[in-house]
Amino acid sequence: MRRRAFLTTAVLSALATTVPPLAAAPAARAATAGATPQTRADQLLATMTPAQKEALIRCDFGALAGLGIPALSIADASAGLRGESGVTAFPVPIAQAATFDADRTAALGAAIGAEGRAKGYNNLLAPTVDLARHWHSGRQAEGMGEDPYLTGTLAATFTASMQQQGVVATVKHFAAYTQEDNRSAVDVTVSDRALHEVYQAPFRRIIATTPLTSVMMAYPKVNGTFAVQSRALFDDLKNTIGLQGHTVPDFWAGDDQVAAVRAGMDLVGLGPGGVQAPAGSITSGVGSARLDDAARRVLATMIGAGLFDNPLPAPAANVSTRAHQDLAHDLAVHGTVLLRNENAVLPLARPARIAVIGPAGTDAITGVSGSSYVDPGNWTTPLQAIRDRAGSATTVTFAQGSTGDVPLPAVPATALGPGLTVSYYAGPQPTGTPVATRTVSTIDFAQAPLSGLPPIWSARWTGTLTPTSTGLHRFSLLPSGTASLTLGGTTVVSGTRHMARFFLGPFDYPLQGTATLTAGTPVAVEVTYTNATAQYGTCGLTLGWQPDSLIPAAVAAARTADTAVVLANRTAGEDMDHTSLDLPGDQNQLIAAVAAANPRTVVVLNTDGPVAMPWLNSVAGVVQTWYGGRATGTALAAVLFGDSDPAGRLPVTFPANEAQGAGATPATYPGDGTTVAYGEDVAVGYRSYDRHGQNPLFPFGHGLSYTTFAIGDLTLAWDAAASTLTATAKVTNSGTRTGWSVVQLYAALPAAADAEPRRLVGFRKVQLAKGAGTRVTFTVTAQDLSTWQSGAWRLTPGLYTLSAGQSSRDLPVQRTVTLG
Ligand code: BGC
Repeated sequence: MRRRAFLTTAVLSALATTVPPLAAAPAARAATAGATPQTRADQLLATMTPAQKEALIRCDFGALAGLGIPALSIADASAGLRGESGVTAFPVPIAQAATFDADRTAALGAAIGAEGRAKGYNNLLAPTVDLARHWHSGRQAEGMGEDPYLTGTLAATFTASMQQQGVVATVKHFAAYTQEDNRSAVDVTVSDRALHEVYQAPFRRIIATTPLTSVMMAYPKVNGTFAVQSRALFDDLKNTIGLQGHTVPDFWAGDDQVAAVRAGMDLVGLGPGGVQAPAGSITSGVGSARLDDAARRVLATMIGAGLFDNPLPAPAANVSTRAHQDLAHDLAVHGTVLLRNENAVLPLARPARIAVIGPAGTDAITGVSGSSYVDPGNWTTPLQAIRDRAGSATTVTFAQGSTGDVPLPAVPATALGPGLTVSYYAGPQPTGTPVATRTVSTIDFAQAPLSGLPPIWSARWTGTLTPTSTGLHRFSLLPSGTASLTLGGTTVVSGTRHMARFFLGPFDYPLQGTATLTAGTPVAVEVTYTNATAQYGTCGLTLGWQPDSLIPAAVAAARTADTAVVLANRTAGEDMDHTSLDLPGDQNQLIAAVAAANPRTVVVLNTDGPVAMPWLNSVAGVVQTWYGGRATGTALAAVLFGDSDPAGRLPVTFPANEAQGAGATPATYPGDGTTVAYGEDVAVGYRSYDRHGQNPLFPFGHGLSYTTFAIGDLTLAWDAAASTLTATAKVTNSGTRTGWSVVQLYAALPAAADAEPRRLVGFRKVQLAKGAGTRVTFTVTAQDLSTWQSGAWRLTPGLYTLSAGQSSRDLPVQRTVTLG
């Protein structure tokens, strides 16, 4: 109860400080009193010519003067407003999901909606509800995890409260978009059942709450047809799921805009990549009924969200209020997951000396790269936040240890002897007869290094590298294309980057590696490169290194400290799928070395998703922070020092190795270059681990508190008239301090349903004082217990087993009920 009161206050004060309450202009109110958005849309539509309707769905608002239709102004907004300053950078969506708290995502949707309006936007591209199908996904932090129920429940409150601020939300991306590799062309082969039960399910939950919203169609093809041109997907979205609002394409998606509108695309001209189809071709190509339907949907969505009645204010310079900043901190705390806490190393008991190690300053990552990146403005770095909270009796020392996931400075000519011999080749393989051979002093170019090379070319550099120091060396390649580095015949770095840097967001995305070398001992070096895999028309490569390891100094700092806190990071975002589960660069070596020097080592993972933890058993604590926006530092410090309980739980399973979970074979990720098979069907996330009896590193739903909880006394009651199952469970704080519990309810369906071993059907987050207990209630609908069979939802008659606990693998109580 206290929590609800807090949130209401937070939301209300957030709104009061940023936008005036919405109120219809008097004239509009008089003319439209009582009319539904659809009726008003129809009235307006009746006054429009076909050319005007086409102009509307092309977003050509200049051609609609006199009709009183406000122009749409859009911004990406999953974690705050991209491309703006003076806004609040909130935790990224996977951290939002880790809150397991739909009241908090409601407050977030309202805050971003309010900031969007105050900045002059009336259409915000959020939330993102693509499911984390596998750990490779470069955009996994832009979605809300692997579970459709969790994602849909959180995103539904986010969307509803965002639209209540007088903006249209655009929920993205429909559907089954789970990889960056070949994203604009790959053909996803997925069953109708997995589409409905898994990938479309979050949209269904959102649209059930907010039917008059908009949905962005995804880049890939689904079962042979671009999503933006797929009648089957539009039919699912509009007829089965019941979207009353409009659809938009992801930017530049698909290959035939007239076909897209014919299939069901409504606002075809949203954003860059706009309409290339010749004027009039949509009207003549789709027929008047479809044109009317598209235009009606666009108008109804805009009217329903209040765009006609509440003109946008003049954009303000700074819309980030104190209340929003507090909300960002609160969300980041609630999304922080304590994965391991041996010997109660946390919370830090204000030791005399703390060594902070790793990218903990301005080099700490605050957001996902790409279209969701939000400028954090003035923010407190983790190092500063730890210093601020440590108190005068604690000495905080800092050692860089590792620079984290960054490109390294170019290897200088002085290390490359007389230079490298480079041979250039026509075509993607550096074999056959070269078109030219030269000597170069280093490898560092962002455009063709030689005139006259064909559009697709490759090269091989050979020579010797003479190290100037002994020990661990870091190397990086920053290619637009595919590159490899071998030293003394051993491959040290290899891989592909479509672009060295995605055109949105501030991060490069290098390939990383390490090698142990000896000062003065030359080693043969070979680098290969092709731009065949680069964004068309681009090329580039930098061979970087860091010859002097920062690890020994970090180990020395750790040795003299009571506790070592090591931050590690990984860059992620659009175009940035991961090919390895390992932390990039020298970070695993750093953590292992620090842990060997100090048994009270706490690792802070500032990452977009799971990473391998080969050092897990030698560190005392592991904290998963994701990217917390402007609150990345303050939330971490609050949790480390125990000002706040680590209240987050994992919205994704952490695999024990790269072979676990869905997408573990080339056919299922990244596919064969044309098609990717979602062979796991509905077994995504923990469903896959459960089906195959795999033990993950950390299960879905896991997260420790600084106290402990006991869950018991599960009750079930089926209400046949309402077709709902009410479950209750008792949760008691069995530990020694106040903390947050997330009680989770899972259902196992009857064998005849041929379903996954268990699925999440409820979660409740409660704060309990030491010794206190409460009963939590879950309402499970028949739909939550159904499967999609032969084109319809079915509740299979039989025995249902409901289990409650604190993760998908910690379910101490269960009860059964027979339905149907
Ligand atoms: C992304 C969308 C985004 C759009 C506009 C695309 O690359 O896939 O999620 O809304 O860019 O920034």
